Amino acid sequence: MWCSVDLRDGNQALAVPMNVSQKLELFEALVRCGFKEIEVGFPAASNTEFAFLRRLIEDKRIPDDVTVQVLVQAREDLIERTVESLMGVRQAIIHLYNSTSPAQRRIVFGLDKPDIVRIAQRGTRWIKERLPRLAGSNIRFQYSPESFSATEVEFAVEICEAVMAEWGPTKERPLILNLPDTVEVAMPNIYADQIEWFIRNLKHREAAIISLHTHNDRGTGTAATELGLLAGADRVEGTLFGNGERTGNLDIVTVALNLYMNGIHPGLDFSNMSRLVEVYERCTGMTVPPRQPYGGELVFTAFSGSHQDAIRKGLREWESRQAGGHSATWDIPYLTIDPSDIGREYREVIRVNSQSGKGGVAYLLEDEFGIELPKEMQREFGPIANDEVDRMGREVTALELKAMLWKEYIDRIQPLQLVGFRTESVDGNVSCVAKLNKAGRAVEIRGQGNGPIAAFVHALTSDGTPMFEVASYSEHALSAGEGASAIAYIQVKVKDGRTRWGAGVDTNIELASIKAVVSALNRLVG
Ligand code: KIV
Ligand code: ZN
Repeated sequence: MWCSVDLRDGNQALAVPMNVSQKLELFEALVRCGFKEIEVGFPAASNTEFAFLRRLIEDKRIPDDVTVQVLVQAREDLIERTVESLMGVRQAIIHLYNSTSPAQRRIVFGLDKPDIVRIAQRGTRWIKERLPRLAGSNIRFQYSPESFSATEVEFAVEICEAVMAEWGPTKERPLILNLPDTVEVAMPNIYADQIEWFIRNLKHREAAIISLHTHNDRGTGTAATELGLLAGADRVEGTLFGNGERTGNLDIVTVALNLYMNGIHPGLDFSNMSRLVEVYERCTGMTVPPRQPYGGELVFTAFSGSHQDAIRKGLREWESRQAGGHSATWDIPYLTIDPSDIGREYREVIRVNSQSGKGGVAYLLEDEFGIELPKEMQREFGPIANDEVDRMGREVTALELKAMLWKEYIDRIQPLQLVGFRTESVDGNVSCVAKLNKAGRAVEIRGQGNGPIAAFVHALTSDGTPMFEVASYSEHALSAGEGASAIAYIQVKVKDGRTRWGAGVDTNIELASIKAVVSALNRLVG
């Protein structure tokens, strides 16, 4: 069971608390995520909080399967106002709290344990006495011994049992005992031990739902909640992205998606994470840091070359296994879940800066423009692009990488530029006439071979170009919208064993390959 406390614990921690319309928008976002219990505020604390709840009830904005929760201290006037705020609600949880730790008892209340227990019992009674006024509503009850994790566990059990005795819960109508790690004061296993001890020693455990409410002072709110669940708790309170007092409440998104990662559907829907982040940031004025688990902009991104390479291979394997109709388990290096499950795009995964390698460069060119550089050519172009990116000192876009590829290969017209190319074929023998601009001089050359490329190689070498051979050749169509329809890649090899790649684009595949030969020769001398 999940309960969002964004509109109460999260809200009370904001420098500028949310206004009614911001709260309404965030409430709707929480409902879209699938929260069935939402703490909507502390209605007795301010007019805004009261007005917000009235708006939810009077405008019938609370879905039938959602229960709103309201917080109140154990003071009769505040309880009275809280009951007024709930008039007409279909179902609600009234959440009573008082603080129980030795420091709070001594410093804030100046009271001993029996008086602290009496505060909790009195508060419970005041709420119970007013239930007939809410007769048409399904009202449940939650009690929190605030600062539970800093409280002696024996005393926590004692006060909770006193509250239970006052309220009279049953297995069929349990109360919620919410056990807050109000301030993280120990390692998460200690909190879990406290939860386990509490559960083992509570009388009438069957009449209580055990709820966790962790904060993040030691940065272990998630761990404390996960261990608390293993210790036997039933319910989790938290906020989106961990908003809340000081270092924040538990980030409920993280715990839910950690379960999801392990194959347990949490029953919460984060399939449009970007929209959720956008609504959250606008309503709360907070920002989601780029490395926030799951929600952050960079959490699926790899800049490092070796990571990119592994991810690229993993995604290929995943795609081909799926295309082959095999039921595949997500198991891709460096990606804990499929980013598309939370509405993120694969194109965010691989981004290129000076730490990236040929794999990332090749991935972006292919993904964005359908340019499938041959493997060996990737080895040549990768370092060229990397040097350029290093010089620029920042992340580069796929468009910038394409411009680098064009500058290095396609746009090379020195010392050779192809001006025209014609072929004739007789009985499988091809003759060609090529017009070239050779270092500023117009020349026309002729050659023969068993295909246009062979004929062109013959024409060039007959004209005095040092002997070379075509070592590799490949070509493919380019994505629609790229203007030219085909790209050809050619690797030439000269006598001393040196090789160079060239590339050419044209609407005519034959011309693309001839241009690729010219590009490779230009790069040999350039
Ligand atoms: O952190 C806390 O202890 C609280 C209580 C009011 C539940 O927010
Ligand atoms: Zn709290």
